[in-house]
Amino acid sequence: MDNLIKQVSKEILRANKIVAMTGAGISVESGIPPFRGKGGLWEKFDPMEYAHIQAFISNPEKVWHVLLREMKAIIESSYPNAAHDGLARLEKLGKFITVITQNVDGLHQQAGNTDVVEFHGNFATYSCMDCHSERASNEIDLKEIPPRCPCGGIYRPDCVFFGETIPEDAMWRSQKAASECDLMLVIGTSALVQPASHIPLIAKRAGAIIIEINPEPTPLTETITDYSLMGKAAPTVKNLINVIEDALK
Ligand code: APR
Repeated sequence: MDNLIKQVSKEILRANKIVAMTGAGISVESGIPPFRGKGGLWEKFDPMEYAHIQAFISNPEKVWHVLLREMKAIIESSYPNAAHDGLARLEKLGKFITVITQNVDGLHQQAGNTDVVEFHGNFATYSCMDCHSERASNEIDLKEIPPRCPCGGIYRPDCVFFGETIPEDAMWRSQKAASECDLMLVIGTSALVQPASHIPLIAKRAGAIIIEINPEPTPLTETITDYSLMGKAAPTVKNLINVIEDALK
């Protein structure tokens, strides 16, 4: 792996425009469970029953009780890990980097990255389903489930449920960044969910080098990935950035 880390670090040092495309796996070492695979949320809950917008509309109380309350609590008690910190260090080293994340936990911004695209929205704010007024997460009181706006409407997280479209701005920024980058780090995603899983293909078609960090292979590994670092995100990214920092001394 050390030789691979050295090769990948050289590619990153040479790159002018880097995109990091991240999924739930990058936050696993922050205590946030993934959706698929070992310990995944969708192993416990059927996403169509709890994470589809129609399910929320038809039974918001059930979705809040079973899924949203747990996700809100886990996210509020989580912190960036060495992988999030590593991507922020890359920006501090002067590398031009855009982070496109499928995660709703806000940990990339907390770690210090400043150009972050939240492809699936976030859990930082909640909106009233009736009057559309917005509240920060810490203003949402879960004494009453589902939490309600003073107007009587029910609050929903500003994430993208299944059955909803990706916010136009997020889609446009992601496609632009992917089509202009010369290197993409794909970290902790199963690359199974469209349209997010199409973003690495855009980068590949634009001639970018694709580097994948994941303990498991994905549909990208044998098709578009140029370097596959099979390992957990936190130690792998930390090791990679340490080698890059040493090379810049
Ligand atoms: N480090 C790196 N990768 C990891 C780690 C880790 N410590 N642990 C697990 N992984 C990998 C898994 O091997 C898997 O490939 O992270 C990936 C997690 O996959 P998913 O749970 O499917 O997460 P993601 O790809 O982000 O899902 C995409 O699906 O349900 C929707 O909206 C949800 O944004 C989510 C989307």
